[in-house]
Amino acid sequence: MPTPTPPRPERELELTLARKEPLADGVVRLTLTHPRSEPLPSWEPGAHLDVLLSDALVRQYSLCGDPGDRSELNVAVLREKNGRGGSAHVHDVLAEGGTVRVRGPRNHFRLVDSPRYLFIAGGIGITPILPMIAEAARRGADWHLVYGGRTRASMAFADQLVRDHPQRVALRPEDETGLLDLDALLGTPQRDTQVYCCGPAGLLDAVEQRCAGGWPAGALHVERFTPKAQEPAAGPAAGDGAAEAFDVEIASTGQTLTVPPDRSVLEVLEDAGLPVLSSCREGTCGTCETGVLDGIPEHHDSLLTEAERAEGDVMFVCVSRAASKRLVLDL
Ligand code: FES
Repeated sequence: MPTPTPPRPERELELTLARKEPLADGVVRLTLTHPRSEPLPSWEPGAHLDVLLSDALVRQYSLCGDPGDRSELNVAVLREKNGRGGSAHVHDVLAEGGTVRVRGPRNHFRLVDSPRYLFIAGGIGITPILPMIAEAARRGADWHLVYGGRTRASMAFADQLVRDHPQRVALRPEDETGLLDLDALLGTPQRDTQVYCCGPAGLLDAVEQRCAGGWPAGALHVERFTPKAQEPAAGPAAGDGAAEAFDVEIASTGQTLTVPPDRSVLEVLEDAGLPVLSSCREGTCGTCETGVLDGIPEHHDSLLTEAERAEGDVMFVCVSRAASKRLVLDL
């Protein structure tokens, strides 16, 4: 059997933490630069960076700076009270002048062309929205942002946003104005408006629910950093919901591997010496995206839109399975 080709390596960069500064209650901004002042990777609004805090601690943070400035990358990180250690590491361990390893940027939250945009941000979910706003303004689009947070002091970039765009930005600190009025915002579907939302899972679920009531398919774009509750899978192999075994074929070698019910495709690939890059391993970060050349994937990720799911040409192998007996993967 031929030796498998290692799948697409992704370049890791060792950057310098040039600045670490408080932005709001519990939020710090990191400014990363190249140690030899080389240009940094290009990116588009909505992109995120993998930050490799240690070998076992990789986190995704949205880029919130200026895509036109290749001299630095900026992320803002909220200290999560009940987090799993990533944000605490950023806040407590990373120090100015130190080295930070990153991968990417990668983008599953792209700004599509539209004459009008409604941006809805909750808390630290403002970070990917910031460069989107700048891009929407650059394109001459009509846009509005509704930005909610616990308190005004906890809302990063709030003052700057209101100062720069007083007519377009509505701040909604919960302790002053209560929860976002989503019925008022989304109750009347708009045919020419794209809705972009990033924030806590509860906000995203509520926005999805409102947009399901008459908004055009594909009008809503969300970015999740925790897995979405999965609905029962549909498809010929979904059966009563219990996972079934299926085969995956590696297109470059013809090697066929069986994925048992209790293992993920990613784990089976790794066991076979085909280490696909991965990070979250829960279908939210997009790192393990893999092309599907044949067969029907059964999607369990929190990334793809309904239209992308229906296309069936990519899958996230950390969580997604097969709705057919066999998949051919573009590896
Ligand atoms: S590893 Fe994050 S989506 Fe698969």
